[in-house]
Amino acid sequence: MSLIKEIRTKAKKIKGKIVLPEANIDSRVYNACKYILENGLSDIIVFGQEKDYDRAFKNPHCEIIDINSYPKIDEFADRLYELRKHKGMTLESARDLVRQADYFSMLLVVAGQADGVVAGSTWSTADTLRPALQVIKTKKDKPIVTGIMLMTRDDARPLVFGDVSLVENPTAENLSDIAISSAEFMERVVGVEPKVAMLSYSTKGSAKSEMVDKVRIATELANEKSHYAIDGEMQVDSALDIATAKKKGVTSSVGGNANVLIFPDLNAGNIGYKLVARLGGYKAIGPIMLNFNKPVNDLSRGCTVDEIVDTVCMTKLLI
Ligand SMILES: CC(C)(COP(=O)(O)OP(=O)(O)OC[C@H]1O[C@@H](n2cnc3c(N)ncnc32)[C@H](O)[C@@H]1OP(=O)(O)O)[C@@H](O)C(=O)NCCC(=O)NCCS
Repeated sequence: MSLIKEIRTKAKKIKGKIVLPEANIDSRVYNACKYILENGLSDIIVFGQEKDYDRAFKNPHCEIIDINSYPKIDEFADRLYELRKHKGMTLESARDLVRQADYFSMLLVVAGQADGVVAGSTWSTADTLRPALQVIKTKKDKPIVTGIMLMTRDDARPLVFGDVSLVENPTAENLSDIAISSAEFMERVVGVEPKVAMLSYSTKGSAKSEMVDKVRIATELANEKSHYAIDGEMQVDSALDIATAKKKGVTSSVGGNANVLIFPDLNAGNIGYKLVARLGGYKAIGPIMLNFNKPVNDLSRGCTVDEIVDTVCMTKLLI
């Protein structure tokens, strides 16, 4: 079974209610919701009025909420104000923000009425993730939220690329946490033993600069904090090709066998996964946001109905 089919099969067995706030404004999200309900993949919450939806949505697994007449809206505004007043939010601005679909979705999750959010088919990444970072926040033992990509091709081993969508200029400490979270995802969700390569333009001291130092220090920190096979700094050819790894002095089991690639910054990560998808024929599943208290995933504005369904299924796997 392909990995993506496996993800859908696993997701179907997990109980959970996912908010899709753009179903009433984007036909791709609408059709994805319809598919999800018809195939019993998830319980969902959509926004708007009953008249906006066809028969498929009159289903015990679907809740339609009209934000404007939602009875707990003032309670949600108070909650948002309490969460953000230390950052200067006033009750008045909380009352305005809470009526926005993005903040309202996150508050449904915080209130325990939903288990996750999939949004962003019509909003920018920042507009989806900022309310999530502010309201849902990170898990207690996880200092950073990171956006990774699962790269699959039928004839090749699955790869995880991180960070490709959120952390613009990670510190060495941030990079070490991104590496560990990406390894945990590979182990727990993909079910494959992670081999983590900390990528750079240098392999084992072949070049010297602050940029290289950052990746070297991140590798040391990641190894201090975890039991995973993590090695670096190394170039991507050392990570993927055993002969090159040997020639360049990478002696660990990661050299040539890496399946988790950690990029030094968001420029490299975002460009890297798109090159592999466009030129290498891989399917990119994600970005998958790790370490939110409850899962929130961001859709690309170019997403297809199928990708929205996959993202909802992946979100359920992170509940
Ligand atoms: C998402 C993004 C807007 C957050 O920006 P920001 O300026 O940090 O936003 P804010 O300052 O409002 O941060 C909100 C909160 O989240 C926290 N935060 C930001 N990034 C975080 C992360 N990766 N992990 C955990 N917390 C984070 C901040 O510390 C802040 O905390 P607090 O206000 O509760 O104290 C920014 O990281 C960004 O634009 N990233 C790039 C996204 C992008 O364009 N991707 C395109 C490729 S798909």
